[in-house]
Amino acid sequence: MTDPAGAPPASEPAPGAVISARHLTKTYQLGEHAVHALRDVSFDIQRGEFVAIMGPSGSGKSTLMNLIGALDTPTSGELSINGAAVSSLDKDQLADLRNRTIGFVFQQFNLLARTSALNNVKLPLSYSRDPAKQARGDELAAQKLQDVGLGNRMDHVPSQLSGGQQQRVAIARALVNSPSLILADEPTGALDSETSLEIMNLFRRLTESGMTVVLVTHEPDVAAHARRLLRVRDGRIVEDRPTAEGSLRASVSTPRPPSSRCG
Ligand SMILES: Nc1ncnc2c1ncn2[C@@H]1O[C@H](COP(=O)(O)OP(=O)(O)OP(=O)(O)O)[C@@H](O)[C@H]1O
Ligand SMILES: [Mg+2]
Repeated sequence: MTDPAGAPPASEPAPGAVISARHLTKTYQLGEHAVHALRDVSFDIQRGEFVAIMGPSGSGKSTLMNLIGALDTPTSGELSINGAAVSSLDKDQLADLRNRTIGFVFQQFNLLARTSALNNVKLPLSYSRDPAKQARGDELAAQKLQDVGLGNRMDHVPSQLSGGQQQRVAIARALVNSPSLILADEPTGALDSETSLEIMNLFRRLTESGMTVVLVTHEPDVAAHARRLLRVRDGRIVEDRPTAEGSLRASVSTPRPPSSRCG
């Protein structure tokens, strides 16, 4: 295993990190047999990062996403989201964290079949504890559909939309509570390559406005659109590096020292 550059040895969450994972393990006990789905995983993800997680089937990617999304708890180790240790939160606080901070996107879109795009996007607001938000449901949902380029498809039900459009509805739904983090497990898995590119461009635009996006993919072409790649094998992170796109952006945004300009 390569030691990922910048892997955090400390047990404290990194200041300002959206996600701080420290020595996370997840072991499933199946009778006598222990399945080590994650083994000592540590990393930080900062605001605005665009991260792709790759790895073979069964390597622990979805397990990791479920932990990051506070949908499941680690066997050991500590996870902080926006500086809050997930293990210190009670059930209500966890539900609140998931509703307000995290938007989830899935491979199979998970839209309600007989429900319009607008009402699908509005759905998470019905769990909101903010009555003002609920009252503005139509307006907020319409705005998010506009943002993903579907302002002219609000009344369509999923069967009247293409796969890429359905995934964009699902992304609008993930955005409707204005989360700071989007978690997407194989969001392009059911889409052709051109439509996948459209979805990745949408995610990229979101990260440019400060949102953090973490996605799982099996496709190197899809991962190449992210800025950072985490590779998982046998429950461990075996690689953590900028993608070519990420390196390019870093070199463009790093100002040259004055001496090289006036030489
Ligand atoms: N609820 C569970 N009970 C027991 N074992 C589980 C459970 N969920 C996952 N596992 C095991 O944990 C390991 C990691 O599974 P995980 O779903 O995270 O893999 P993955 O990398 O997402 O794979 P894929 O690319 O196929 O989706 C696998 O060996 C899997 O069989
Ligand atoms: Mg999986």
